[in-house]
Amino acid sequence: MSTLELYSLKSELLHAIAEANDLDRLEEVRVAALGRKGRVSELMQALGSLPPEERKAYGQVVNSLKDSVGEALEAKRRELTKTALGQKLATERADVTLPVREGPLAEGRVHPVSQVTDEITEIFAEVGFSIAEGPDIETDFNNFTALNIPPEHPARQDHDTFYLPEAPDGTRPVLRTHTSPVQIRTMLREKPPLRIIAPGRVYRSDSDQTHTPMFHQVEGLAIDEETHLGHLKWVLEEFCKAFFEVPQVKMRFRASYFPFTEPSMEVDIGYAKVGDEFRIGEGDDWLEILGCGMVHPNVLKNVGLDPERYQGFAFGLGIDRIAMLKYGMPDLRAFFSGDLRWLKHYGFPPLAIPTLAAGLS
Ligand code: PHE
Repeated sequence: MSTLELYSLKSELLHAIAEANDLDRLEEVRVAALGRKGRVSELMQALGSLPPEERKAYGQVVNSLKDSVGEALEAKRRELTKTALGQKLATERADVTLPVREGPLAEGRVHPVSQVTDEITEIFAEVGFSIAEGPDIETDFNNFTALNIPPEHPARQDHDTFYLPEAPDGTRPVLRTHTSPVQIRTMLREKPPLRIIAPGRVYRSDSDQTHTPMFHQVEGLAIDEETHLGHLKWVLEEFCKAFFEVPQVKMRFRASYFPFTEPSMEVDIGYAKVGDEFRIGEGDDWLEILGCGMVHPNVLKNVGLDPERYQGFAFGLGIDRIAMLKYGMPDLRAFFSGDLRWLKHYGFPPLAIPTLAAGLS
């Protein structure tokens, strides 16, 4: 190709670049010139077939052509990009008066178990109980032995325990079958006077309409030198009235047996079922909601407290049970099925934080 032809190719390509009025067209021009089969690329390939003395000069001209075209393409690309953005900004409109999509505050719901746990802690905090915690995976000692349930004790069979594989020391950790091991942890850690509640998950290998393998309890413990059964009864009665937000609650204390309390009682609450609704404090139906008693001297000894000096009460309350009663949720299994429709119906708005001053529910 003659020098003249090269110059005319150059002006032809630069013209095409100048004429391109959008990025797509510019890309076509680029491919036609610098693409693998483009016109400039073909000139480069022809270089090899030239006699050696002509190669250098020819190569320089083609290279400078390639550079000029490349620069022109880049400049044009920048210009077109800028105009495209300007056009977009000039033509697109956002209507800021349109309503925004509802956020998590409007959509999200607090699970009734969480809400009821907050209600319970609020009530006990008001009378001076603090919150204690323990892990879901417990030692056999904390869950049983220290609570006066030694290895051969028949009460172990009642608990349908989930055992974990044996630890190096030969003991088997368990998924705690009740929150009572938190009593032990607390008494080993702190000295009386003690007033704690310990809400949390517990596990038993049991499943039907009123039992799920995981459920929730709140443990209560008060230890000092004079707390007696009358205090226990008063605390539980006041708790039930505050929790159910009624002036009177029908309660029934039945003598019972737990290895870690003496005497021991189970407490039922009176209710009537009217249609789908539960009415607390009316009717002749009873629902067992908790176990309680005076802490057994052996338990005090097991944590190094002198039973001649210290005494107190403990209770274990079923959170899911009282949630069902208070909010009229008939099926326990629905609590843990993760059904969003159920949660939308029975759940609580995230900012409905229960306080005694503003009302629990
Ligand atoms: N831990 C007992 C249970 O789960 C309840 C309980 C707690 C009873 C504290 C007495 C004292 O059944």
